Amino acid sequence: MTSTDQRSGPRSARPVAAARSATAWVLKYGLTGLALRLGARQGDLLARSVVEPARRADPFPTYDEIRARGPLLTGRFVAGTASHAAANEILRSDRFLASPAVAPTKSLNRLLESLTDPHALGPVDPPSLLAISAPEHTRIRKLVAYAFTPRAINALSARVQELADGMLDTIAAGNPSTVDLIDAYASLLPVTVIAEILGVPEELRQPFVKIVNEAALSLEPGLSYRDYRRATEATREGHRFLDEHIARLRRDPGDDLLSRMIAAADGSDRLSDTELRVTALLVLGAGFETTVNLIGNAVALLLAHPDQLDRLKAEPEGWANAVEEVLRYESPVQVTLRVSTADTTVAGLPVREGQAVVVMLGGANRDPAVFPEPNRFDTTRANAREHLAFSAGPHFCLGAQLARLEGATALRTLFERFPDLALDGTPTRRGTRVLRGYRRLPVRVGA
Ligand code: HEM
Repeated sequence: MTSTDQRSGPRSARPVAAARSATAWVLKYGLTGLALRLGARQGDLLARSVVEPARRADPFPTYDEIRARGPLLTGRFVAGTASHAAANEILRSDRFLASPAVAPTKSLNRLLESLTDPHALGPVDPPSLLAISAPEHTRIRKLVAYAFTPRAINALSARVQELADGMLDTIAAGNPSTVDLIDAYASLLPVTVIAEILGVPEELRQPFVKIVNEAALSLEPGLSYRDYRRATEATREGHRFLDEHIARLRRDPGDDLLSRMIAAADGSDRLSDTELRVTALLVLGAGFETTVNLIGNAVALLLAHPDQLDRLKAEPEGWANAVEEVLRYESPVQVTLRVSTADTTVAGLPVREGQAVVVMLGGANRDPAVFPEPNRFDTTRANAREHLAFSAGPHFCLGAQLARLEGATALRTLFERFPDLALDGTPTRRGTRVLRGYRRLPVRVGA
């Protein structure tokens, strides 16, 4: 069967495929969406934080409200925390798993598994690292971790600088002098770096950005059926793209991460083809879907705080800490989910087995118990690095060092090259609940 056949299928199979897709959506997102809307109508604060547009657009006052009610708020369907101590405890605890069990019961979860196409598995479906636990998690993570050690990332520093310079040359040569900084720089830099690490050829990078942007919708709680179909089709396209790319690298391996993963898969580490594709897709996607938000959020924040930007221009050694403060103040990943494996406690409060807990990383990072005056953006904040923007425990972000390097290099180089950079129009937010960043950031680069 060719890949096109797989997409459209014979005419008679289409209604069956559509019914499977609709059932999978109901189990994975539809029931959660319904529960959230019902809960919100009944005043459940955790549900309102997802459903109400104003709370989605500016989640920070809601985090304060949730924290004011205690370290752990147990709502009708889920529990949630915006406390730094409780979030840290949950993320590091072996009594909580990053569970893929999204349907309400075990048998419905089994049904969901049977309906899931292995060529459409996304970032929150097993065997994605984000959805599995030890020992599988340890085995797969080990195979990719070597490419992201501090030493490996330091070795990339000159290349990241060269890429940033080249992209800014292109912007400078462009006419007019107004550009969308997200497209031209904030997204292009991380996607180019992660594509080079994985050995993805240049002509495939732009189509891949679109695929990952749409596939990332699958992170959203209570996703609509229309968006679910868009995300699933994009994920399927990502798998097709990776199948072809993996076949190419099997014939002609390079010195890149994916070639090494393929060698491991074909060797003694027994990585299945599905594990290989899903891991590669996660690393590619996570490599830029988040860092784009770090760079975009940072530019918007610094343009709104010109005194702090001036100080960074004068004292460039401050950029590393400025990156930490942006991660703390406006975390690119706002929330994640854990499920308890047994009756237990968090911050001394009881939690029953199977309880889903929304860990509000963006809220923990505004906890006044750890960060004095948490709603003040301060690039010189002494303990900014204590944020949980990269999570904690076994799922701690694999790309944290890379993101830090890309963020600091991108920002320093941008403002050195264009010291008069200014907003030129109204930035547009992405509008998503989990990932927080800009879709468009129009700027004028010269005087
Ligand atoms: C500012 C940029 C970034 C942010 C804020 C970020 C944030 C996160 C967070 C919060 C998690 C854990 C989620 C959880 O605990 O449920 C995570 C995991 C991960 N991140 Fe990042 N990330 C960033 C950049 C990157 C980059 C550049 C890569 C490139 C390789 C990457 C690869 C990964 C991977 C593979 C995981 C899964 C790790 C695991 O589950 O073991 N991230 N990231």
